[in-house]
Amino acid sequence: MSETMPDDVAIESVLNERREFPPPAGFSDAIGGAHISSIEQYREMYDRSIRDPDGFWGEIAGELDWFEPWSTVLQWESPDAKWFVGGTTNLCHNCVDRQVANGYGDQVAIIWEGEPVEGGSPEVRRLTYADLARETARFGNVLKSLGVRKGDIVTLYMGMVPELAIAMLACARIGAVHSVIFGGFSARAIADRVQDADSRIVVTCDGGWRRGAVVPLKDNVDAAAAMTDRVKTVVVLKRCGNEVAWTLDRDHWWHDLVGGVSDDCPCEAMDSEDMLFLLYTSGSTGKPKGILHTTGGYMVYTYLTSKYVFNLVPDRGQVYWCTADIGWVTGHSYIIYGILPNRVPTLMYEGAPNFPADDRFWDIVERHKVTQFYTAPTAIRAFMKWGNEHPRKHDLSSLKLLGTVGEPINPEAWMWYHREIGSERCPIVDTWWQTETGGQLIMPLPGVTVTVPGSCTLPFFGVDAAVVNDHGEQLPVNVGGLLVIRKPWPAMLRGIHGDRQRFIETYFARVPGMYLTGDGARRDERGYFWIMGRIDDVINVAGHRLGTMEVESALVSHPAVVEAAVVGMPHEIKGTGIAAFVTLEKGHDPGDELRKDLLKHVTTEIGAIARPDMIRFTDALPKTRSGKIMRRLLRDIAAGTDSDQDTTTLEDFSVMARLREADDG
Ligand code: PRX
Repeated sequence: MSETMPDDVAIESVLNERREFPPPAGFSDAIGGAHISSIEQYREMYDRSIRDPDGFWGEIAGELDWFEPWSTVLQWESPDAKWFVGGTTNLCHNCVDRQVANGYGDQVAIIWEGEPVEGGSPEVRRLTYADLARETARFGNVLKSLGVRKGDIVTLYMGMVPELAIAMLACARIGAVHSVIFGGFSARAIADRVQDADSRIVVTCDGGWRRGAVVPLKDNVDAAAAMTDRVKTVVVLKRCGNEVAWTLDRDHWWHDLVGGVSDDCPCEAMDSEDMLFLLYTSGSTGKPKGILHTTGGYMVYTYLTSKYVFNLVPDRGQVYWCTADIGWVTGHSYIIYGILPNRVPTLMYEGAPNFPADDRFWDIVERHKVTQFYTAPTAIRAFMKWGNEHPRKHDLSSLKLLGTVGEPINPEAWMWYHREIGSERCPIVDTWWQTETGGQLIMPLPGVTVTVPGSCTLPFFGVDAAVVNDHGEQLPVNVGGLLVIRKPWPAMLRGIHGDRQRFIETYFARVPGMYLTGDGARRDERGYFWIMGRIDDVINVAGHRLGTMEVESALVSHPAVVEAAVVGMPHEIKGTGIAAFVTLEKGHDPGDELRKDLLKHVTTEIGAIARPDMIRFTDALPKTRSGKIMRRLLRDIAAGTDSDQDTTTLEDFSVMARLREADDG
């Protein structure tokens, strides 16, 4: 960790935020009935969940199917939590087969819309629970026939197509572990993850549609497979019809494998603590970590948060849409695993928000009569910039609830969302959580919690969140500190794949016995949480989490670069942009050509999401006498705010002057 407290967050902008929005009257009737009716009821349930977690979570878990009941609800020996110990269940069963068994096989589970719009209308597919039961069984059998066994890690690098959902659920069905890699990551990033997970099989698509162009997914897998010896089998779904290279004996078409395979593939009985998935995310070091989630607790927690936070009620005409990509945790938990057990259709959209035009999302909301809409602040800021005429062209009256996730939402964006999208009648749920937490931890409950723009408000049932100092002591009202979770919750990560030490050091060492989130926060007079941003070397770029070290390593791997320092800088749409300070080997000319080459290099090493927004060449970086880069100073320079910060430990004062003067193209 570089510094103890965040200093690059605009605390003032939210400190003065006093606007309060009471739960809109009539919300419960409008949405088809609410699960909870008052803040007092929330407090009662919350108190019980903290006082008696076994009783609380035991009852909730009973709403889902188990093959064998658990003997103990929770075993906790920090940092190791075991939930529903001894119980066996299956997540695919609870998402799919359970609905079929209860007579809902014909209901729509997934509504999928493709990106291309040909002849005026896009392709739409509606998959019922019965369709999902059949397709996940078939693909489960395909995986088995390719040698995948319980516990094996299957890498999924696909676009946002229904087959991605099918592949994930098929893994869950047969007890394989999936590792989904976002389709925007590069071949290098795939190779690193495949290698770390020791994954022998990759499922991909020929290509993916993005803004009318084809993303060459299969080419990227081919390139990744050349960088590691792990990949033995590649399954390719035909989506775009683009040309692909073919490696005999290794590559198989999805449609060839699935045709003629049996659809009899019972859901494997999984121990509650068996692994469900791995998902790589960025941390303070250069190497992404494989966050490990297990079955029972994750299932119960994502089910319950989905139910309460989005107010999901089956059979009331609700259509839920989360705009995230399944390559991120939001898509795992709140497109698939938390939503399907609630038996409300989940919408999946393949492409970009501005294709073919800037009103695509609102067109989707209108045509599918979306009732709950969940997106990210970076998207909201883009919509604001594109103009009010786009949402105003459409009938958005089906919307009943709005959600946001991924980064702090600035009050201005909140107000715009409230006014232009929610017509001032939809509650907004600002949900704070992380890849590691598996599910949402801090958020308002719709129709119940008074909201304040910029605050994620109150903890969910069972979540003992607090703002503390390094000794674990709770800080007074409005004093910023470390956001920690003091008790285990069912969906918490169970580890980092293959790195027990890093798991302990990252999350449980700084404040012993408590889960350290890596975020700074304060709590106001009402007890509401205000997230102040990361306290480690992680930045949140357009809601995508990146380690500054990852970008630095990518830059330094370029032959012209000696040293690089990467910091976040304010960015109108992305929230945080990437600023890179780079020193060069002798003989390389700092200039636009090299700058372009470095941008390309980072895109190849990690992916377009990691492309710096600014590269500044410098002959030295500001360092302390002990050789540590003073990122705080670099952040000021990148933000354009001149620094009167204490530079007494700075080794060479002239470095600062030169850095300020340097041109960044
Ligand atoms: O800094 C917090 C920010 O996103 C981080 C987690 O990123 P990731 O693991 O990629 O998961 C994103 C989707 C859950 C957090 O440490 N963050 C997430 N949601 C919010 C947020 N910051 C403020 N408000 C939020 N609602």
